[in-house]
Amino acid sequence: MYYSDYLQLNSILNAQDLESDKQGKHAHDEMLFIIIHQSYELWFKQILFETKSVYDILAKEEINDNSPELQVAVNRLHRVTEILRVLVDKVTILETMSAQDFLDFRDLLRPASGFQSMQFKVLETLLGLKIEERHGQEYFTSQLRSEDAKSIYTLAKETTLLQLVNNWLERMPYFSESFWHEGNHFFDHYRAAYAQSLGEGEKQNMQAFDELFMGENLDGRKLSLKARRAALFIMLYRDYPILQNPYRIMNLLLDIDELLATWRWRHMNMVHRMIGNRSGTGGSTGKGYLREAAMKHYIFQEFAELTSFLVERSKFPQLPPTLEAKLGFTR
Ligand code: HEM
Repeated sequence: MYYSDYLQLNSILNAQDLESDKQGKHAHDEMLFIIIHQSYELWFKQILFETKSVYDILAKEEINDNSPELQVAVNRLHRVTEILRVLVDKVTILETMSAQDFLDFRDLLRPASGFQSMQFKVLETLLGLKIEERHGQEYFTSQLRSEDAKSIYTLAKETTLLQLVNNWLERMPYFSESFWHEGNHFFDHYRAAYAQSLGEGEKQNMQAFDELFMGENLDGRKLSLKARRAALFIMLYRDYPILQNPYRIMNLLLDIDELLATWRWRHMNMVHRMIGNRSGTGGSTGKGYLREAAMKHYIFQEFAELTSFLVERSKFPQLPPTLEAKLGFTR
């Protein structure tokens, strides 16, 4: 094996054809512009590779708690978050190019745009962003090659990672009647503890609590009643050994949402200083489009909302001893 053969450097290092050179008006900063996009795409590839492998683990009908599966999923999601941190940070490299430098080759790119990054769109879709939740739907389809738009529409019909997580949460066995006798369900106890924890000005939170945890499924929610209940239970009792990895999974999904949002805002601010209020090379309103997309394209927000319904540890309902034993390593 030889270094450059193994890494196929011949292909990678010869894939930077400056459009400005082709047109005979060399623009020095176009090299940076190409390399930074290519390096983002390489990292998107790794993120997708990890995310798909976590998807495959969660797609199983049953996850064996006594196997490495969940720990592997945790490690890979953690890797995704570390890559995303780098992707946020490296926007500064691009900002060493000034708005004036960019203008030297910007018009040659039209109508291409990072908006057409299929790997980014596949990632959003795989995680759980639905077509109808996207900002600027008409813009969305008009800017992609028809085969690309078609493949995103097809992917959007598949089960998303968020749905797999929902199904996995629904299977959490700790509300079963073998632990809680009829009329003595965990949520009856917890509802009382939550009601007690609310100050005078917060009493209206009970309505939301009842809708989310005591009622039927609400329209438009991404997590089902069963999954919301399980997620809250995991948040509360996360210090028990068996619940540590499930808690980490939820937390890492929140990290991914937050880091993607951070990237979107970082990218938007960079775009603002680069092109001001002009429209993008892809024809959107530019900063305005990016701001709306950043606000709307959260995927795992419903996990973050659950924190409104926590109570202090000393108020937690006492778990039946049979259940407590199940939450430890020896079962
Ligand atoms: C000078 C640098 C850049 C400028 C001025 C810029 C500008 C824009 C603009 C205006 C849009 C909205 C669509 C449009 O009208 O074109 C957009 C979208 C996007 N850009 Fe960039 N961009 C830059 C660099 C990058 C880089 C380095 C990446 C990394 C892959 C990137 C990835 C994206 C993605 C993924 C979108 C879609 C975002 C979404 O739909 O939420 N951009 N960009």
